[in-house]
Amino acid sequence: MKFFVDTADVAEIRELNDLGLVDGVTTNPSLIAKSGRDIMEVTKEICGIVEGPVSAEVTATDFDGMMKEAAILAAIADNICIKLPLTLPGLKACKALTSAGHQTNVTLCFSSAQALLAAKAGATYISPFIGRLDDIGMDGMDLIREIRAIYDNYGFETQILAASIRSINHVQQAAIIGADVATIPPATMKGLVKHPLTDKGLDAFLADWAKTGQKIVK
Ligand code: E4P
Repeated sequence: MKFFVDTADVAEIRELNDLGLVDGVTTNPSLIAKSGRDIMEVTKEICGIVEGPVSAEVTATDFDGMMKEAAILAAIADNICIKLPLTLPGLKACKALTSAGHQTNVTLCFSSAQALLAAKAGATYISPFIGRLDDIGMDGMDLIREIRAIYDNYGFETQILAASIRSINHVQQAAIIGADVATIPPATMKGLVKHPLTDKGLDAFLADWAKTGQKIVK
């Protein structure tokens, strides 16, 4: 499973990238707003930090507007992936951009029917939003399971990018089901390492080691 970091905070991206955990980045208009930075400037900086795809989202809602914005975003760097909403104009733009050789990420997916359309439009990635489905009393993981089954039934190459991840369990379950990628908020990505028995075990090892009086580096 590939890990994308779901943020436009360059300090967080650098830290996680230095740990070797980052295969790509996803941003959206809300994350750009949270960064307080200019979209072009911050996206260019992110593209220089990570080698993998960096999703940058269009904000136009009509096909022509999306295509104009996509051309500007794609010119930022070679690793830009154009993020498009799951609407009819978004799917049309997805088809056109994919055919022109761009990477595409179709976002705001809440049903397997929508995911089927995105695959038929040639999307590189489909982004089902797990947490936002959980928020309305549904099980977001069911959607990942359904999309995995549909894509496998027909051999679609669109990669499932599990999004709106809120917990370590979301990452684990999405990996068990076979999502290709998880886009994870920085705090949750760092939280994946934690287990109380790891801390307890390390404390015990270090206490026993101190009793020996030995040092590995003399
Ligand atoms: C995905 O690409 C989105 O940026 C993100 O995962 C949405 O997460 P949220 O529902 O926590 O805002």
